[in-house]
Amino acid sequence: MNPSTLTIITTEDGSPSFLNTALGETYHSRHGAAQESTHVFIQAGLMHRRHAGAHALQVFEIGFGTGLNAALAAAHAQSLNYPLTYHTIEKYPLSPVQHAEYIASAPLELQAILHTVSVAPWDAASSISDDIQLTKMKGDALEAPFADCDVLFLDAFAPAVSPELWTPEMMQKYFACLKPGGIMVTYCAKGAVRRAMQSAGFEVERIPGPPGKREMLRATKTITR
Ligand SMILES: C[S@@+](CC[C@H](N)C(=O)[O-])C[C@H]1O[C@@H](n2cnc3c(N)ncnc32)[C@H](O)[C@@H]1O
Repeated sequence: MNPSTLTIITTEDGSPSFLNTALGETYHSRHGAAQESTHVFIQAGLMHRRHAGAHALQVFEIGFGTGLNAALAAAHAQSLNYPLTYHTIEKYPLSPVQHAEYIASAPLELQAILHTVSVAPWDAASSISDDIQLTKMKGDALEAPFADCDVLFLDAFAPAVSPELWTPEMMQKYFACLKPGGIMVTYCAKGAVRRAMQSAGFEVERIPGPPGKREMLRATKTITR
């Protein structure tokens, strides 16, 4: 997991990602990093929850990585003018040099917001704008103190690389941190992950994935009456 073994790659939509050469694992889909983040986390996550009636959103992300999801979420909230509170946790933060290299390779229209999230301090709440608060936590998601979320972005490395973040026990923790009606979204569509989500009490949908991926998962903590 050592971030010193990272190299920048260009994905098929032209947006960059990192490849961890020791693990053979990328931070985003090689078929399109920005496309994947937008499809899985913004459209199937934030937009879905807002269409279901939530106005202000409280988001928790597993794996801050490059900050792409955080940047796209902030841009989404800014463009639609809704309050967003975004908490994210990262065990192996990129160095400032790696962040700068990533931002310099990103599409021009994303560079300013990526820069804003990358320079936000660790372990403190910061205001991106009047209505957008970002808290980046340095630490292990296994011990993360998260609660009261509307949307959880499960963006850990794949189960083969980070199995500890996809266990039935972690699914129970994710379930407990969501408000009733809250959702968890992930790019991963593996059967074992879906079953672990169901065993924690989630109602799970397999929905169309981003380019290059047939399906993704959206898990809802349904409101019981
Ligand atoms: C798929 S990448 C996340 C991509 C990121 N969301 C983005 O927008 O660039 C997975 C991230 O999880 C981090 N990670 C791995 N194990 C972790 C753990 N136990 N707790 C928190 N973060 C972890 C990795 O360092 C990596 O940055």
